[in-house]
Order: sequence, then C-alpha cells, then structure tokens
Amino acid sequence: MRTQVAIVGAGPAGLLLSHLLHLRGISSVVLEARGRDYVQKRVRAGVLEQGTVDTLVAAGAGERLLGEGMVHHGIELRFGGQGHRIAFERLVPGRAITVYGQQEVVKDLIAARLAAGGQILFGVSDVAPEGFDTPHPEVSFTRDTKRHTLHCDYIAGCDGFHGVCRDAIPAGVLKYFDREYPFGWIGVLAAVAPSTQELIYASNERGFALHSMRSPELSRFYLQVAADEDIAAWSDERIWAELRARLETVPGWQLSTGPVLEKGVTAMRSFVAEPMQFGRLFLAGDAAHIVPPTGAKGLNLAAFDVTILTEALAAWYSGGDRTLLDRYSAACLRRVWRVQQFSWWMTTLLHTFEHSDPYDRRLQQSYLDYVCGSDAASTSLAENYVGLGPP
Ligand code: FAD
Ligand code: PHB
Repeated sequence: MRTQVAIVGAGPAGLLLSHLLHLRGISSVVLEARGRDYVQKRVRAGVLEQGTVDTLVAAGAGERLLGEGMVHHGIELRFGGQGHRIAFERLVPGRAITVYGQQEVVKDLIAARLAAGGQILFGVSDVAPEGFDTPHPEVSFTRDTKRHTLHCDYIAGCDGFHGVCRDAIPAGVLKYFDREYPFGWIGVLAAVAPSTQELIYASNERGFALHSMRSPELSRFYLQVAADEDIAAWSDERIWAELRARLETVPGWQLSTGPVLEKGVTAMRSFVAEPMQFGRLFLAGDAAHIVPPTGAKGLNLAAFDVTILTEALAAWYSGGDRTLLDRYSAACLRRVWRVQQFSWWMTTLLHTFEHSDPYDRRLQQSYLDYVCGSDAASTSLAENYVGLGPP
C-alpha cells in the first residue's frame, strides 16, 4: 500500500486533515483503532469557534452544521447569586460560537471523506509508525489478523493523547509541559430541553457546574468532582440534585430534568509536547497538546493545527518548498500556548480548589467581579472564547 500522507487516528484532527489534503489533490489513508460506530458516538466537545465553522463549511462538510448548529452570541457566568452575561455581540462584534456536537462533526467528516472516495481503515491494531527520520516513512498495522505496511511521504500523528505516534519519537527529542488539576468533570447527556438559551458557567462553593446543550431537545451538563470519582456513586437523582444545588442560585431560575442518556468522568489536564514534529512525522490535535475543557478549545485547536499542516504540505507538494513544513511546530505553538493560558485561567477562575485558603478564594471572587464588571476584562475573555483570528 502507498499513499502520500499516512494519518493515524480518525478523530476530528485526522478526518479534517484527510479531507483538506484531498481538496488540495494530496492523497492520504486514515488508520483508526476503533470502529466507525464507536467514533461516531463518542460524546465530547460541543463548542465550535467561527474559524472552525468556516473551515468545515469551506471543506464542504458544513451543510448539517449550518442547518442544525446553534449560534450563540454570549455566555453566562453565574456566581454570588447572580448571572453575568458576557455579550459577544457588544464586546467582539461580528464573532460568535456555534454549539454542535463533536460526534456530529465526526459523522459529517466521515461522510464527506467516503463520498469523495477517501480511505479510512477502521478497527486496525498495533499501528507502528517507522522510518520517519528517513525519506521513506511507513506505518505498519494489523487488519483482519494480517500485517500490512503503508508506505508514505509523511506521517500525521492525529491519534489523540493516548496514541502511539508521540511515543514513537526517540526519547529526549520532545519536551513535555504539563499540569494536573485536583479534580475531574462528570459529563451528562440528558433528554431534556435546555433550561437556558446560552451556556451557563457556574462557580459555586460546592464546585463548578456547566449547563450546555446539543439541540432543542438535548442538554449537556458537567459537574466538578474529585479526580478519581467513581461514576457508580452518581445515581441520576444525585446528579440532578447536585446540578440544582450549583445552578439554581439565581432567584426564579429553575432547572428542567429528564432521562439521563449517558454519563462519565473526564480527567482534567494541561499538556504540551514540543516540538510538534520530528523528521517526517507531524503531531496534530490532542496527540500534541491537551487543555482542560473549561475554555472549550481542544477540538478548535485540533482544527487549527491541521489547517496549518495542510498549507505546509500543499506548499511542499506544489513547488517543493519546505519552509512551511519546517515551521509547522512554531506556527502551531504560538496559538497552542495562548489557548493553554486561556484554558488554565478559565479553569482556575471557575473551579473550587479544596485546599485553597480564604485569601485565594477572595482573589478568585475579586477576579470574577472584575471580569464581569469591566469591559476591558470581559472583552479579553470574550475574544479568547470566540477564538482569536488567524496567526
Ligand atoms: P481524538 O478525538 O482523541 O481522536 C484521536 C483518534 O485516534 C481516536 O479516534 C482514537 O481512537 C484514535 N487512536 C488512538 N490511538 C490510536 C492508535 N494507536 N492507532 C490508531 N488510532 C488510534 N474541545 C472543544 O474544542 N470544545 C469543547 O467544548 C470541548 N469539550 C470537551 C469536553 C470533554 C468532556 C472532553 C473529554 C473533551 C472536550 N474537548 C473540547 C476536547 C476535544 O474533544 C478534543 O480536543 C478533540 O477530540 C481532539 O481531537 P483529535 O482528533 O486530536 O483527538
Ligand atoms: C460541551 O457542550 O460539551 C462543552 C461546552 C463548553 C465547554 C466544554 C464542553 O467549556
């Protein structure tokens, strides 16, 4: 087997990269460890920046997104018994976010790839990227009990945080930067109409809570819990009681409840691997960096990386110019670190830290007041949240 770019991972990064390359006349094969059904059902992100929406639409994978995605012009920060709206239309005119599930993005991209004759091999195992420090890289893998080798010019490691590509780079080449948080999130998908028009980020002494949504009939919630929380300890009744306690803090506001369709615990972590390339192997998305979901950035950053990688590969294939390929990591890392800082900051601002002393808590309250009371501070939050422009 031979292709120009071997892509490991059929998450948003790998699928979007494959499609963007196809639109530039560059061939690729996507190798995915899981089945198609599994990747299409994995409930994760929900907030798309304008730049991500524009990229998906321009790639011809935006029809359903434009029809079903919910455009939001603000978010609410709820604390101290009050809601404070961060009004994008006033603070960052013309910019908004679109609420649309990651699994819908994945479905749309898979459909677009298959309609264009793209090759996605689901359910492969023992994927091994090799020879990327030579002009002849290859990826070997097992499919239907047989071992195969995919020869290529470049390898894109889009295989998420737990993938194999990052670890295939020789020891000592990459530098890691990370932060662990002393809490996790329970994510809940419920068959109930959202009790709010816009997302609510609630900071509360009992812990952080987030009210998001997927459609007029589906709500998505998150609750700050211990990092090692056992989901078995969270009955649906307990989840609703805790969401009520953390969200019904504004006079007259009530949470509607309904059947819980899915629930699970997610760890919170910040992580960056530098550089994001070695020889002919390029890392993109969660394979290279992770942010805590409080800033709603991971998927958007993955889309950004592969846009940069597409430009770099297109420059190479069309005229033999390596400049952009050589600069790939540096071009991505500038935005990666902006998003790292924003996601860390949102997390620190809104969560309850068990061991924080009263002084820390007062600082946090003061910053929350400042963010909501000052246009300068709320504009900073708004411009980062909707997504900074192109690099
Ligand atoms: P992934 O989606 O992890 O895809 C990697 C793919 O590679 C997977 O399909 C995996 O099965 C496959 N793979 C792994 N190992 C191998 C292997 N060895 N061989 C072959 N294939 C392999 N981001 C936002 O922008 N907005 C949000 O609102 C948001 N909310 C989030 C909420 C939660 C609860 C979580 C957990 C994440 C959230 N994120 C959010 C982050 C976002 O989901 C990720 O950043 C995004 O999935 C990254 O995409 P990716 O393609 O890089 O990696
Ligand atoms: C989501 O809808 O899944 C979501 C929204 C905002 C976040 C994180 C997740 O910050």
